[in-house]
Amino acid sequence: MIISYFIIENGDGMKKRIQDMDVTNKRVLLRCDFNVPVKDGKILDDSKIIAALNTIEYLISKKAKIIIMSHFGKVKTEEDKLTNSLAPIAERLQSLVQTKVIFSKQPRSLYLEAKIENMNPGDIIVLENTRFEDVPEKLESGNDAQLAMYWAGLADIYCLDAFGSAHRKHASTYGVAKYLPSCIGFLVQHEVEMLDEYVLNAKKPFTIVMGGAKVEDKVELIESLLPRCDHLLITGGIANSCLYTLGFNVGNSIRCKDQEVLNKIKNLLIQYKDKIMLPVDVIISREYDETFIEHVNVDKVADDDIIYDIGMKTINKYKTILDDSSTIFVNGTAGKYEDMRFATGTRELLNNIVNTKAIKIAGGGDGVSAIKHFNLGEKFSFLSTGGGATLEYIINEGLPAIDNIEEAE
Ligand code: 3PG
Repeated sequence: MIISYFIIENGDGMKKRIQDMDVTNKRVLLRCDFNVPVKDGKILDDSKIIAALNTIEYLISKKAKIIIMSHFGKVKTEEDKLTNSLAPIAERLQSLVQTKVIFSKQPRSLYLEAKIENMNPGDIIVLENTRFEDVPEKLESGNDAQLAMYWAGLADIYCLDAFGSAHRKHASTYGVAKYLPSCIGFLVQHEVEMLDEYVLNAKKPFTIVMGGAKVEDKVELIESLLPRCDHLLITGGIANSCLYTLGFNVGNSIRCKDQEVLNKIKNLLIQYKDKIMLPVDVIISREYDETFIEHVNVDKVADDDIIYDIGMKTINKYKTILDDSSTIFVNGTAGKYEDMRFATGTRELLNNIVNTKAIKIAGGGDGVSAIKHFNLGEKFSFLSTGGGATLEYIINEGLPAIDNIEEAE
């Protein structure tokens, strides 16, 4: 088990960490982020569960009764409950730990209360998806005080280890901390330590490789990262919007239509022109002709074309920057990498990145999935478990559910 002993400074104080609390023989309510990709009942990527094991194993070793909560997917109707059960995740957890894992089919029930009462020290109980409490009323996501109090009543200590959900002010992530002595787990500590050291205080030259579909979702992140980085290499749909604001024709490609966002982007492109790089060539196709694929310079895109990837000239141009970087942060993908015909940009950029000596970090959505898709995860210094949470952490240098945990005395 790897346990890092460092102090989290958030604002003006130190957060209480799990290793600062006396958890021996206590009932510990542990909020994890087990929102993992599942298809046809099969878990496609269990890295969030694996990342939670440090805290879970620690609590087992302290003979705590471990009460695990997590959300899973979006639950807006009774029907959604049928496809969003945490049961397969509890089953996977059972295969990863030596101790007994009980599954409670309700996030609150008399059965749950009785089971906790009769659990052996070191055993685990996993509650059903906390978002089942969002139907019919949004009790979980609305941070209902009664619900938070109910969950708090099940335990002696609350531990937040759901970094990926720490941007949510929900009853299970935020509300519950008001009613129990609270701390952060090892996963949250590690995420904060890595993002602080490698992104917020990155060793220079610091290069960011940013892609993904929607510039609307990234404009705040771009604004917050530009003053900190030396280079921003833009790809994907975000590049299309940037090219469009500069007067290039991007045909039918994904691009932002919001004029306010486009104006903001244009100003950033002007203000940071020495830091930002845009694609010089792209791979295009057409909606009505799947067999049509062409490689063109960005000034040759026609009205019917759809940009799906960056071209080799861009990859080589970006490589020279990557080779000279000390830190590289990856967020998003260069193209539609799931389709082999448009995978080259994402794959080659990632291969170039892992072959540099730089510290390599990725976080915030699709980029991490692509890294795993091309089996390059082991070559990265750190892959964040957060999606939106990672981006919000970078923008605001903190997250509500973490900031909410009491300061150490
Ligand atoms: C994630 O997968 O990014 C987190 O689990 C948060 O999920 P949410 O966006 O549904 O709150």
